[in-house]
Amino acid sequence: MGTYAMTGGATGIGAAIQQQLVDEGHRVIVVDIKDADVVADLSTRQGREYAVEELRSRAADGLDGYIPCAGLGPSVTPASLITQVNYFAAVETIEGVKDLLIKKGGSVVVISSNSAPMGADPDSVEACLQHDEVKACAIVDQLGEPQNAYGGSKLALTRWMRRNSTAYAASGVRLNAVAPGIVRTPLTDKVMADKALGQVMKDFADTVPVGSLGEPEQIADAVMFMLSDKASFMCGSVIFVDGGHDAMLRPDDF
Ligand code: NAI
Repeated sequence: MGTYAMTGGATGIGAAIQQQLVDEGHRVIVVDIKDADVVADLSTRQGREYAVEELRSRAADGLDGYIPCAGLGPSVTPASLITQVNYFAAVETIEGVKDLLIKKGGSVVVISSNSAPMGADPDSVEACLQHDEVKACAIVDQLGEPQNAYGGSKLALTRWMRRNSTAYAASGVRLNAVAPGIVRTPLTDKVMADKALGQVMKDFADTVPVGSLGEPEQIADAVMFMLSDKASFMCGSVIFVDGGHDAMLRPDDF
């Protein structure tokens, strides 16, 4: 059985992924700000470095897969926290364990969002992709729109994944993304309870084409497939698991 590492395994989608990996008999090392094998605050550079150091010593023989799932929702302030956790923590920890993945021909699934193509400040996205954390954070804080920072963090992460998938594949490591829609998790509960965003989100939730919100296990099912050998020809792909929302909003874009 394999060895997998992930972030954000304490609750929601990450907890479902962790459970499915354990149910298949794998060893899973979880990094999170709470209730984890490695407790680290991934919004900070020190936290990310500590997390990578711990993963490197706990999985020295290599990793079969890595899932940077930790994330903050579009109701969090300051907005820069979203950028730090959703983009910079994901990218820096993937890079930090790259050679462990190469050792075992592992694969990575990043957690995008169906909100990634819905519009975000292009300068903040570009600053992320240039790996300029100070600039990206300053832009999103000046805008003061957490929803924009959220979409931007996921757009940048997905672009990073696609831009790097060729080079990683040359080292035997597949990069892919899942783009969930609205899923019943603590993150979504917080957004629904938010004064500014709650009603908009509830109205949006009422329009999911399949008629209900997603469950964390439904996202984990897609992640498990992308991690597995059954997906060995899948590389640089983005799978929308969103009850049909992306198709409803952008029918001709694919
Ligand atoms: P959640 O709030 O249940 O889980 C997020 C996890 O990240 C938690 O375990 C939390 O402790 C951890 N985390 C947050 N800040 C951290 C930090 N500074 N350092 C370390 N760990 C930290 O949320 P959910 O919904 O399960 O989200 C998981 C991923 O799925 C996120 O990347 C989110 O953006 C993404 N997503 C969620 C959607 C939804 O509707 N719930 C839709 C699209 C994407």
